Amino acid sequence: MFRINENYSKLPGSYLFSTIAKKVSAYKEANPDKKIIRLGIGDVTLPLSAPVIEALHRAVDEMGDAEHFHGYAPDLGYAFLREKIAEQDFRLRGCEVYADEIFVSDGAKCDSGNIQELFAADTKIAVCDPVYPVYVDSNVMAGRTGTYDPVTGTWSNVIYMPCTEENGFTAELPKERPDLIYLCFPNNPTGAAITKDRLQKWVDYANENGAVIIYDAAYEAYISEQNIPHSIYECANARTCAIEIRSFSKNAGFTGLRLGYTVVPKDLMCGEASLHDMWARRHGTKYNGAPYIVQRAGEVCYSEQGKKAIREQVAYYMENAARIRSGLTEMGYSVSGGVNAPYIWLKTPDGMSSWEFFDYLLQNANVVGTPGSGFGPNGEGYFRLTAFGTHENTLEALSRIRGI
Ligand SMILES: Cc1ncc(COP(=O)(O)O)c(C=O)c1O
Repeated sequence: MFRINENYSKLPGSYLFSTIAKKVSAYKEANPDKKIIRLGIGDVTLPLSAPVIEALHRAVDEMGDAEHFHGYAPDLGYAFLREKIAEQDFRLRGCEVYADEIFVSDGAKCDSGNIQELFAADTKIAVCDPVYPVYVDSNVMAGRTGTYDPVTGTWSNVIYMPCTEENGFTAELPKERPDLIYLCFPNNPTGAAITKDRLQKWVDYANENGAVIIYDAAYEAYISEQNIPHSIYECANARTCAIEIRSFSKNAGFTGLRLGYTVVPKDLMCGEASLHDMWARRHGTKYNGAPYIVQRAGEVCYSEQGKKAIREQVAYYMENAARIRSGLTEMGYSVSGGVNAPYIWLKTPDGMSSWEFFDYLLQNANVVGTPGSGFGPNGEGYFRLTAFGTHENTLEALSRIRGI
């Protein structure tokens, strides 16, 4: 009889979003006349921009023409895209990153879940708390995380780095030495950003301790402040300790189109072994590339019209973020995030738990957000609202919250 990977059985149910869905549908059933506004979504709502749609049409036409048809893509992605990425996302910002260090993929979720394969079975991981769940769950599946304690919501073999109001939700360097450190800035769920000086401390720590940082910069396009690095490679010596993951989902709205990339610098070595070569081998063996038409759509994001469209879409969402931030602050809520990220992290009032506040907002304002405790124990007492709604819904939600 075959046996399964028992590590999957250790995973606790995906409690957060299924519980939200159940609570919302029960409320709707009991109150069919109420209009619910969802400010919990992490998906974009604006359609793809005109330059992207035009690039897709052009590429589709090429695929129907024998002379210009494209079959399997090159392992690392098309050079036309990798060269634009290396030039515009990195070298224009003073980062030393080359086109042959870019691995184009179908998104940051897959890359951030798969990258752990490069590391030993007994690798000790460190994650922020609260955290985007993929980093932990992918290591659970690989058997690295020990046992789960349902009371604390933590794994025995994982180093948790609390992100609290005191440390500006950016985490302290861990006391216990990790092998692999997952950092995400600008952050989901807290919306916090990290300064270059502070990120440099993480890079120095990783180099001194022989650790690797997996840097998830999926929300890079939302950075608005000057002293916030757009890439970890803006820090000195990051090429010897950091892998960076990017996405076209939240800047260009590719959540349904699927495109992302990972940078593995050639200087990232473990003795004689090159992580770049290992990831190239993995890509070649297990992956056949993002579609040609999608990579052409990604390429156009680096044109003048494409960049303008991204700026406009990001500005649209960030107008919501600013309104939510200022509106809630006026109402007396303690809020953070929403300046360099599309997420607003608010402290629940009157000592309510995250779920109590969820119920309170749903029942009294018919507004849905995401309980912070669903992202980790240090998210308890916090609540995430997102800026991905329409202007109209965002304003309406704020006015309803004001009216409670
Ligand atoms: C921190 C973070 N990384 C990665 C992703 C997923 O990005 P993609 O759509 O490219 O898979 C998300 C999506 O919400 C995210 O919040």
